[in-house]
Amino acid sequence: MSKKIAVLAGDGIGPEIVAAAVKLLEHLRQEEGLSLELESALVGGCAYDEYGSPLPQATLDIAKQADAVLLGAVGGPKWESLDIADRPEKGLLGLRSNLGLFANLRPAILYPQLAEASSLKPEVVSGLDIMIVRELTGGIYFGEPRGIRTRKDGLREGFNTLIYNEAEIERIGRVAYDIALKRGKRVCSVDKANVLECTELWRSVMQTIGNQFPEIELSHMYVDNAAMQLVKEPTQFDVMVTTNMFGDILSDAAAMLTGSIGMLPSASLDADGKGMYEPIHGSAPDIVGSNTANPLATILSVAMMMRYSLDLPEIADRIEKAVSDVLDLGLRTPDIMSAGCTAVTTQAMADAVIKQLAL
Ligand code: IPM
Ligand code: MG
Repeated sequence: MSKKIAVLAGDGIGPEIVAAAVKLLEHLRQEEGLSLELESALVGGCAYDEYGSPLPQATLDIAKQADAVLLGAVGGPKWESLDIADRPEKGLLGLRSNLGLFANLRPAILYPQLAEASSLKPEVVSGLDIMIVRELTGGIYFGEPRGIRTRKDGLREGFNTLIYNEAEIERIGRVAYDIALKRGKRVCSVDKANVLECTELWRSVMQTIGNQFPEIELSHMYVDNAAMQLVKEPTQFDVMVTTNMFGDILSDAAAMLTGSIGMLPSASLDADGKGMYEPIHGSAPDIVGSNTANPLATILSVAMMMRYSLDLPEIADRIEKAVSDVLDLGLRTPDIMSAGCTAVTTQAMADAVIKQLAL
């Protein structure tokens, strides 16, 4: 039976990097006989411009009916002055919550070929292989009440609510422990339990569930220390599990350790393994249209899609190998460029990956 993939390119460099990934999907369809059906729809600022909403119902329907969603990026300066409810980011958050994508997997892997591109010394990042498991549909991103209000004395105040119930903590904890069982069997749960009651509960539930996984070595770390440890000794981590906002911040930091945020894919999964796949970088308005965006994070997101939603792990392995091969060949987009390498465009990088895949 053919698998449906919703293709939501979004804004900024989204359409460029998604076009590169779609080329790869088309290759897999035509040359390797994968039964895939692609359907495109608008999300983010472009959807707001066309339909007055960053997440039109038609887009949500297409995403819901699909087996997997491929997303580029949303947002840009053009929409920054809109009401928060109309902003492109709401399209992405709406997809996450409406599709129940509570588990966000963000692997930060250092390709040895890119050790020089890392902001840390090669000996500090060598061997880096972290899986950040970020809770994605709860916490302060979605907590109510929220807003900006005017007090009786006329001062305006902004407020958000950090809230997690035990069931939400337990289910993301189980995802992290299950993943760790297939890797280094170590989980570090990141919280701010010394200050925030909500994460005091987080720590206690993580510990209780962790006790059911005797093979897993569980540790707890405050988020400020975790940020420091990520730049001090990042290879100490195997799986990190954390809240929505802490995961947002720590995953950008971890991304930079790998040389470029342009290298990091992500998977956002629901309880049944259906997922949305996207690079973790944003819409990069500064380089739109220059054909210099790095398509590898999106291509690696397609690999994650093959592994987690389409049950094609051997294709996932081959895509990841092809990416490693093009790096071996010295091909680089500007974000990962270093001496002695060959500068390539977005399209040329994608073509090179497809060529390696076909070998
Ligand atoms: C991410 C992004 C999003 C987030 C934005 C675009 C809403 O930064 O996926 O990390 O904060 O989750
Ligand atoms: Mg982010």
